[in-house]
This record gives sequence, C-alpha cells and structure tokens, in this order.
Amino acid sequence: MKFNQSNIKKAIKYLDKDYCIGVPTETVYGLAANAYSNLAITKIFDLKKRPKNNPLIVHYLDAVSLKKDCLINDNFIKLYKKFSPGPITYILKLKKSSKISKYVTNKKKYLAVRFPKHKIFKELLKQLDYPLAAPSANITTKVSAVQAKDVKEEFGSKIKYILDGGRCAIGIESTIIDLTDKPAILRLGGLDISKIQKILGYKLDMNINPKRKKSPGQSLLHYSPGIPLKMNALKAKKDEAFILIKKRNTKLKNYFYLSVKNDLNEAAKNLYSCLRKIKNKGYKSIAVEKISNKGLGKAINDRLNRASNY
Ligand code: TXA
Ligand code: MG
Repeated sequence: MKFNQSNIKKAIKYLDKDYCIGVPTETVYGLAANAYSNLAITKIFDLKKRPKNNPLIVHYLDAVSLKKDCLINDNFIKLYKKFSPGPITYILKLKKSSKISKYVTNKKKYLAVRFPKHKIFKELLKQLDYPLAAPSANITTKVSAVQAKDVKEEFGSKIKYILDGGRCAIGIESTIIDLTDKPAILRLGGLDISKIQKILGYKLDMNINPKRKKSPGQSLLHYSPGIPLKMNALKAKKDEAFILIKKRNTKLKNYFYLSVKNDLNEAAKNLYSCLRKIKNKGYKSIAVEKISNKGLGKAINDRLNRASNY
C-alpha cells in the first residue's frame, strides 16, 4: 500500500495534540497515542474500555530509539537482529530515566516493546520524537481490527483519524516474549515460537495460562465476536455459521473458509475478518472445524479458545 505524506502529517497533528488514532501494522490495527503523555494514554484506556491494570505495548522505529527507555540484554539483541521489525513483542526492564507514562505499565518496571514492519507505521515513527503506545484497535474482549473499516466499526466517531494502510499482512497479534528473566512466551502470535526456539537454542517456557496473569490482557474471554463459538466441530446446525480451514465444493451459505488450501498463514490472515463477517451477517452461533495445532495454527487455536468462552 502506498502512503502519502499528507496523511502522515495529519496523523502527527492529532498525535501531537494527545489524541488517539488508528494505525496499520503488519499484525492488526493499533489504537495509537503518545507513550510519553499521561493524557493521551488515559484516552486509550477509556476508548477501549480497558482495565487500567492491563499494560500497553510501546512501538519504536528501532533499537536505537528504544535505548532511551529500556535496558537491553543479549537475548534481546539475538532476537531483534533476526525478527525485528516484525510480529514479536519483547518485555524489557524500564530505565529509571525513561519518560514513558506511568499509565502505560500501570506503574510497573517492565515495558512491552515492539518494532512494527508496516511501511506507513514506520514512516510515522520516523517523523515523531516520541514512541507510540498502541493496543489492538478493538473494544476490550472483542475481535481485533485488520482493516481501517474495522477500526471505524469499533470506535465510530470517537476517534479523530485512522491511517489507512490496507489489510494487515499477518492478521493476528504479535508473539510476546518475556526477556526480563529466563525467556518465556506470554502470548502466542504471528511469529511461530519454533523459529524463536531455534535462535535461542532451547525450548521456551510457556506462561500463557490466564490464571497466572503474567500478561494481564490474556484473560479468559477475548477475541470474541459476541456470540457463542464451538471448536473442533464435525458439523454445524443449519442456522449456524460453520468455519472451515479449507475451501469446500459446496454452495451452502453458512460455510465460511479461512483458506483455499489449508494454509495456516492464510487462515491467520483471514481469521478476524471471518469472525467479524459472521457476526455482521446476524448469525447467532459459530462452529469451527478442527484446526491443526502446528505453526500459526497454535495462535489461531489460542484465539478461538478464548473466543469460545463467551
Ligand atoms: O500485534 C500486536 O501486538 C498489536 C499491534 C497493534 O502492535 N498490539 C496488541 O496490543 O496486541 P494489545 O494491547 O491488544 O495486547 C497486548 C498484550 C496484552 O495481553 C497485555 O497484557 C500484554 O500485551 N502486555 C503489555 N505490556 C506488558 C508487560 N509489561 N508485561 C506483560 N504483558 C504485557
Ligand atoms: Mg488486544
């Protein structure tokens, strides 16, 4: 997607005035605001109806700009070199001198940081002299946004501006890794953890159980289209939406496909728009066929599992 400088300028005008705007990333759209401004950060929490104890991810252009705010370590350097910019978020220790608003981390000493790959978001960060806090651009517990119009559907006129960057290439949130202690995965996401394990040379601890609350946003109900959803279904009722991983040769109206050929990357990319479409068509429940738990299938199943707690 091409970008034009006048849209970037408009975005900067709103951000400089402490407003929140929609921004495209390669994973999902974000609801972005100045990470150094208490006022701007408070607005993010209000708009999303997000509990104040659920910290935000801060987005930087590169490791050079990050160094003002966080302490880095060897594991970070290894992973950053290989995977950033891209769909991975690191938890690092904040520097005492950091200007990050205390509301971003709920006054804790650790910060989630990410380096987005989307061209438009990078250009925006390049022109700003502050980093951007940005949670996914959806109301808390709801389906994330993967197109500008989804952001509009979530927030309507409550936000001033959305930078349109087309459809998100990955379609599922970043993988979160805690690097403040022995590395541990806090959220499955757009970067397959086997790739991370390969670089680090060992199997990672998993801390994705919502009861352990290391990542407070990973609550039981999340990513929900607001109707019941059942996983590992063999069939669907006549008036129920049926989500399939691979296109079938049928004209049944209640069948929805995540991919043409059982491709898990394509399925991740289509997941949230599929859930949104089904909800908007007025279906009252969803059945989902079993999805292989390999590669991005793990993150897809994690999202569906949380959505099934409706
Ligand atoms: O792909 C993504 O990560 C997207 C795009 C916009 O960058 N952002 C995103 O943000 O998914 P959000 O707020 O929807 O999810 C962030 C998750 C939450 O589960 C939150 O609890 C966790 O990151 N988190 C943020 N800061 C943390 C911290 N300091 N320690 C542990 N978990 C943290
Ligand atoms: Mg989210």
